[in-house]
Amino acid sequence: MASHFIVLGLLIATFSCAIASDSSPLQDFCVADLTGPVLVNGFACKDPKLVVADDFYMSGLNVPGNATNPIGSKVTPANVAQIPGLNTLGISMARIDFAPWGVNPPHTHPRATEILTVLEGTLEVGFVTSNPDNRLITKVLQKGDVFVFPINLVHYQRNTGNVNAVAIVALSSQNPGVITIANAVFGSKPDIANDLLAKSFQTDTNTIDLIQSKF
Ligand SMILES: *[C@@H]1O[C@H](CO)[C@@H](O)[C@H](O)[C@H]1NC(C)=O
Repeated sequence: MASHFIVLGLLIATFSCAIASDSSPLQDFCVADLTGPVLVNGFACKDPKLVVADDFYMSGLNVPGNATNPIGSKVTPANVAQIPGLNTLGISMARIDFAPWGVNPPHTHPRATEILTVLEGTLEVGFVTSNPDNRLITKVLQKGDVFVFPINLVHYQRNTGNVNAVAIVALSSQNPGVITIANAVFGSKPDIANDLLAKSFQTDTNTIDLIQSKF
């Protein structure tokens, strides 16, 4: 009998470790109390009696983001920070605007798989598998095409056209998170030591200093 409990315990431990997206809700909704004092995984729930339609709503995703910046893209998020009703629901979305030849640079989402659809323009997209293969899976997408970026993998998009491009993405977390590789590695505060990065990237410290100065 005791051994059954041990096996059950191991199974539960295995399954709880294997869940890579947000856990399932235990109630109809748990609208985030974004300013509340209680710190939990996610946000504490607002009193359900005080919940209103606007807790599940945002507007403005029709408005183009301003992609006039050095990378030529702009992400407009629609996650739990904008829509408190997403708390505990394991889903969110974003609009991405691209200037001609703009790039959404290599990044990962630590908590979400992403599915993207092109609304306007042409996008070159790709993701890289983990070590040791580091295989690049890439494709050129046209309007209406859909592409998936598996959770945690480094991925990017680039507008390969001379006109603006627009994409809508859905993500399997209320709070997918973003780690932009260049910003994390070259723009940490404080800096990672330049000689450490020089050895890591098989280059010299002057090159590292130059890149760090941009982030
Ligand atoms: C977009 O951003 C650029 C650079 O910050 C700025 O010069 C420009 O006025 C902005 N355009 C709009 C429409 O806000």
